[in-house]
Amino acid sequence: MNNFTYYTPTKVVFGKRTEEKIGGLIRECGCQKGLVHYGGKSAKASGLLDRVVASVEKAGAQAVLLGGVVPNPHLSLVYEGIELCQREKVDFILVVGGGSVIDSAKAIGYGVANEGDVWDFFEKKRKAQACLPIGVVLTIAAAGSEMSNGSVITKAEAGMKLAYDDDLSRPVFAIMNPELTMSLPDYQTASGCVDILMHTMERYFTNGGNMEITDSIAEGLMRTVMNNAIILKEQPDNYDARAEVMWAGSLSHNGLTGCGNDGGDFATHMLEHEIGGMFDVAHGAGLAAIWGSWARYVYKDCLDRFVKFATCVIGISPSDDLEAVALKGIEGMEAFYHQIDMPISMKELGVTPTDQQLKTMAKMCSIATGGAKGSAKVLKEDDMYNIYRLAL
Ligand code: NZQ
Ligand code: ZN
Repeated sequence: MNNFTYYTPTKVVFGKRTEEKIGGLIRECGCQKGLVHYGGKSAKASGLLDRVVASVEKAGAQAVLLGGVVPNPHLSLVYEGIELCQREKVDFILVVGGGSVIDSAKAIGYGVANEGDVWDFFEKKRKAQACLPIGVVLTIAAAGSEMSNGSVITKAEAGMKLAYDDDLSRPVFAIMNPELTMSLPDYQTASGCVDILMHTMERYFTNGGNMEITDSIAEGLMRTVMNNAIILKEQPDNYDARAEVMWAGSLSHNGLTGCGNDGGDFATHMLEHEIGGMFDVAHGAGLAAIWGSWARYVYKDCLDRFVKFATCVIGISPSDDLEAVALKGIEGMEAFYHQIDMPISMKELGVTPTDQQLKTMAKMCSIATGGAKGSAKVLKEDDMYNIYRLAL
């Protein structure tokens, strides 16, 4: 077991009609003028945006609106947001949306609170010293950004998708009403479930130590998300299943399922970010498309964990043939992805990269990871290329 610091400053307000509590939360923060940040159309169409703005104003604060965040959020809108916040002297950001809007808000928050180009942080040229306080009304269970320290931004013109992790950006509060996720298209619900699973799987497949309690939480979380993802496929309005998945989404990426290990593997995420940067796919679907190829490439170097995953999460019977058990676990996970209509290859994801594009993605992934990534197996550029090829 490794030493660890577990830091989760976000106040979570969870359950039905909890968005009605925004006013009180804003008053607690003592903020005066907020940027209300949202996405393409869902928040407006459902009337949620209007209700949120009304609550902000009722709490005695002013609201400045900026919508139009797209999945794989763009740096160009971040720059626009920074300018708007500076002009309007905004002192907090309130998100109505999911991972993309939260990540865009975090980047704007850094840009307002620090001198210079915010992209420097994503290119790891320097570290931020501050971030505007961020509150969230979550509308999709997926990225876990409502409690995480991550922000992932795409510089669209360069096809670059980069992450910046810093505790400064962990939201001050997150309102999570599972009912708000009932309007999601099935594809986004399923894609979100994959992302939630992957945030724990990334931490689980490690050669860097473990804790029994962390493993138990992780395995319980993975089984819970798989069971409820299947329920949601048939019953998208099932409140309890929505609630299980939504809370799992936050716990899966706030650090809880990695306490005591080395921080996990996260190569699948880095491999997917290149697919997302180049082909603009839904993040969770991209993860499903690449995971099986990654797993088959690395499982022999992390056999104990793959066997534990197969028996404790997928339900494979133990046997002396450990490699066979591990492989059955990988097949079982892919069968689950298919069961919820998620892809297990790039072809099924709907992208057909050329060999040159695979090489470019491997090169960019290698640069983004400082030359190597992984704990189950350390991957270099040629390994990344091999996995992309396997995933075609
Ligand atoms: O823009 P609108 O119209 O709202 O549509 C969104 C979007 O098209 C829609 N949606 C959201 N809530 C809805 C809804 N549609 C109907 N009803 C609702 N209640 O769903 C689509 C996807 O939204 P998005 O915010 O992109 O989803 P998600 O939460 O999966 O975020 C994905 C982004 O998060 C990053 C990903 O890379 C990706 O860019 N990640 C961020 C992380 C972090 N900050 O810690 C970690 C993750 O690993 C991930 O990398
Ligand atoms: Zn993710």
